[in-house]
Amino acid sequence: MVIIVYGVTGSGKTTVGKLLADKLNIPFYDGDHFHTAVNVEKMRKGIPLTDEDRLPWLENLQDHIQTWSREGGAVLACSALKEEYRKILNKGVQPVWVLLEGNKSLVKDRLDNRVGHFMNPALLDSQFASFEEPTYGLKVAISSPPEEIVAQLINLLEHMNKLSSFGVIGMGVMGKSLALNLCSNGISLSIYNRHIANVEERVAAKVLADNPNFTELQGFDTIPEFVASLASPKKILLMIPSGVAVDLQVDELLPFLSAGDILIDGGNSFYKDTNRRARYLADKGVFFIGAGVSGGEEGALKGPSIMPSGDKEAVEKILPLFEKIAAKDASGKPCTAYIGPEGSGHFIKMVHNSIEYAEMQALTEAYFLMRKYLNLSPVEIYDVFRSWQSGETASYLLDITCDILNVYEGEELLLDKILDRAAQKGTGSWSITTALEYGVPYGVLADAVMARAVSFRKTQRIAASRAYEVKPDQRSSANEPFLAALKDAYQCCRVVNHEVGFSLMKEVSDTHGWDLDFSEIARIWTNGCIIRSSLMESAVGWFAEGDSLMMHPEVIRRMKISHQKLAYVVAEGITHGLALPVFSAAINYFLGAITADSPANLIQAQRDYFGAHTYERVDDASGKKFHTIWKR
Ligand code: 6PG
Repeated sequence: MVIIVYGVTGSGKTTVGKLLADKLNIPFYDGDHFHTAVNVEKMRKGIPLTDEDRLPWLENLQDHIQTWSREGGAVLACSALKEEYRKILNKGVQPVWVLLEGNKSLVKDRLDNRVGHFMNPALLDSQFASFEEPTYGLKVAISSPPEEIVAQLINLLEHMNKLSSFGVIGMGVMGKSLALNLCSNGISLSIYNRHIANVEERVAAKVLADNPNFTELQGFDTIPEFVASLASPKKILLMIPSGVAVDLQVDELLPFLSAGDILIDGGNSFYKDTNRRARYLADKGVFFIGAGVSGGEEGALKGPSIMPSGDKEAVEKILPLFEKIAAKDASGKPCTAYIGPEGSGHFIKMVHNSIEYAEMQALTEAYFLMRKYLNLSPVEIYDVFRSWQSGETASYLLDITCDILNVYEGEELLLDKILDRAAQKGTGSWSITTALEYGVPYGVLADAVMARAVSFRKTQRIAASRAYEVKPDQRSSANEPFLAALKDAYQCCRVVNHEVGFSLMKEVSDTHGWDLDFSEIARIWTNGCIIRSSLMESAVGWFAEGDSLMMHPEVIRRMKISHQKLAYVVAEGITHGLALPVFSAAINYFLGAITADSPANLIQAQRDYFGAHTYERVDDASGKKFHTIWKR
């Protein structure tokens, strides 16, 4: 650890710092020795240093702090009186702050008795005036002799060493897995789970008992004890259900938090709620970071994709930690990065989930076609999907689908025993409402959500199927040509799914000036998350060259051929009685998007006919509105 002993000139930081370094057996450095020659000269003449003068000095010190930390620690005496100076020194590995507190007359007496120091005592007033007291770090009074101050400090540091550097609230599947991931990465951790009699009792204690190897793990079921176990500034990750539970948890925590503390919501919260919560807590000086986390239980435990956003400096304080626990991309870089301002992290996680819905539905439709139209057995479908799992169609979702097709209960496929009602928790429908709000065509991904809604109406479907007596027809000719087309159709649909999702991100990012980096977003989605795939890996490069997947030359080359396969597969499937909502929506979106002259002119004429809504003309670029009396 690097300890910074600070206070005004004359507070004794050099004496205390040296003694402390001796006791801890680590090197001591005097911050003044890192000033530029120009600064030293100014101080000698009694000229106060400006913030501009101090910047190179602080940056130099910050650099050294990182090195000292790597080399086993140090004590630095330095007069970092303003918060903005401390912010610079806090970048990267954070030092432990020790403030030497004393009143002006005591310090003045000491300075008056001091010989051979270049600091002009006349600057003391300006130092006291500019001092901004922090809410974090250790504080000791300078009235006692230096030896006593150091003894006090050693006590405080020992206590502090027992404090956890991070806290997780909520020991559900995701919270517990992330907590264990943090512990495996050597992060001292406090965990909390609420106490509900007979329902959730001693949950955190059980996590501890099940993981005796993690000695730096502390468990709590009361908030005051949990928060008190954390080092300041406190960093707490909420892993609890989205919605009102988050507001209630924030309010319960708030009395125990101080300015500078950081709350992180790692759940699937709606991004506008995140914006609201960040504003609410900003009034109290507490940072609220929305962090999308993807990867399910296994990802959380072994390496998720993490999407934090909000106040950049606050995110930078937690990013080193996220980098440790996140999945790594093909080049070894962590699948996490600062996403952007406000709730942009939760926003992109919401879009991630709607792409996830469409990807799952596309696989489901391919499976449905093979099972019902081609009459393939689960084993044969497994073989087809496995063959797709190499090259550009490979994905995590395809991989797990293969696994699912391999699970039997006795002679029967377990899948056949699962009730066909697909549930949802909300992120898919939030994406639709957001797309509507921003006027972004979202049919494809919206249809994936709607397909789940249709699936939920099991009773009505049974009644309707009896009434209509529709049974999917089986294919009468060879399966092979259709299977080849199906693979291309599936891939074409996936490109459209991604195009639609990313186009919503672009629209919202442009509207809010979030400046989202789509290549970087695709990169952090290449591993750890549910929609990781070969296509996502290609998308990293494609988005580096432009904002639209569909307009990338490589994609144009591929889609020119594959879209016809998608049209063919959809036509075959629906004429033989199979609902293919996402495949159909994808080909419709694609054909609509590449049609220069659409029939929307007829809509405009109809609107003008019955409502005098006016229209623009192709032969008048001025934007002038025209109205016609249509009835002749
Ligand atoms: C992820 C998943 C995860 C969760 C979905 C499920 O990225 O890890 O998206 O967040 O599995 O929220 O959503 P539904 O219950 O709506 O399908």
